[in-house]
Amino acid sequence: MDLYSKLCWKISCLMLLLFFCSHYSAFSNNSLSPIYTQHAGWYDHFYCQSKNYMKESLFLHKVLSSKQPQEILDVGCGTGTHMKNLEGMGYQCVGIDINDEMLNIARAKVKGEVFQADMREFNLARTFDAAISMFQVFNHNLTIEDALQTLLTIKNHLVSGAILVIDLLSNPHSSAGVKTTWYNDIKRVMRWKVDSKSRIFDMKVTYIQNGARYTSTLIFKLYSIVEMKDLLKQAGYNNIRFYDNYTLRQGTAFSQTLIAVAQVP
Ligand SMILES: C[S@@+](CC[C@H](N)C(=O)[O-])C[C@H]1O[C@@H](n2cnc3c(N)ncnc32)[C@H](O)[C@@H]1O
Repeated sequence: MDLYSKLCWKISCLMLLLFFCSHYSAFSNNSLSPIYTQHAGWYDHFYCQSKNYMKESLFLHKVLSSKQPQEILDVGCGTGTHMKNLEGMGYQCVGIDINDEMLNIARAKVKGEVFQADMREFNLARTFDAAISMFQVFNHNLTIEDALQTLLTIKNHLVSGAILVIDLLSNPHSSAGVKTTWYNDIKRVMRWKVDSKSRIFDMKVTYIQNGARYTSTLIFKLYSIVEMKDLLKQAGYNNIRFYDNYTLRQGTAFSQTLIAVAQVP
């Protein structure tokens, strides 16, 4: 091998190593993706205009009202918008989220306490009469073991008869795509692809402002009705049902967003 070939070989190896390192760290630190750390300040600007948080909160009120809960635990509360809406309806809320930057925004918005914690393993040493986990938080569980652990940990915080509501990304509209949105001078480009076999949803989000680009990767596991029902049963929940995208229509295998509702016996 001449010197030039050796150099090319070394550069190729280095690039391959860098690619694997960046991919692996994005995967393993998904819960702390920069989209929720550096970009927490932009989160509400983009999502409060694209998501109807009030419609979702009214849906929660409808589903929860049969049990008339007083205190609700919001798992993965993020910037606290559902908590704020539910507090406005008279509920008392407590939130947990793994990300302190998101929680700092919530702290300025909500009355209830919020704690930095991992949904798979936390202990608030108290119980609630309902729990919610909204906007694909649960999809951050990339393995069935993590998903089961999360359901068991939440159940440890619920009284008998309590209701759990989980919003799940189940079937994205397309297996790959690009979407661009703006907030003032900030451009956000989301590119996603789904691996149909592993049901892993991989999304790169790039924010562009004044020519500077900030890219982060989000990796979700998609959950089907069958998988989620099985997990909820294994974790000991009953009265399990699924709704389609914040309506009282029954969820189906084609629902993009599924709302799983279950009860603690
Ligand atoms: C798409 S945001 C949803 C936030 C909020 N529920 C909402 O509806 O706006 C997902 C949230 O899940 C949180 N998260 C991701 N992994 C987590 C984990 N293992 N434990 C707790 N929170 C987690 C992120 O920090 C982020 O705030």
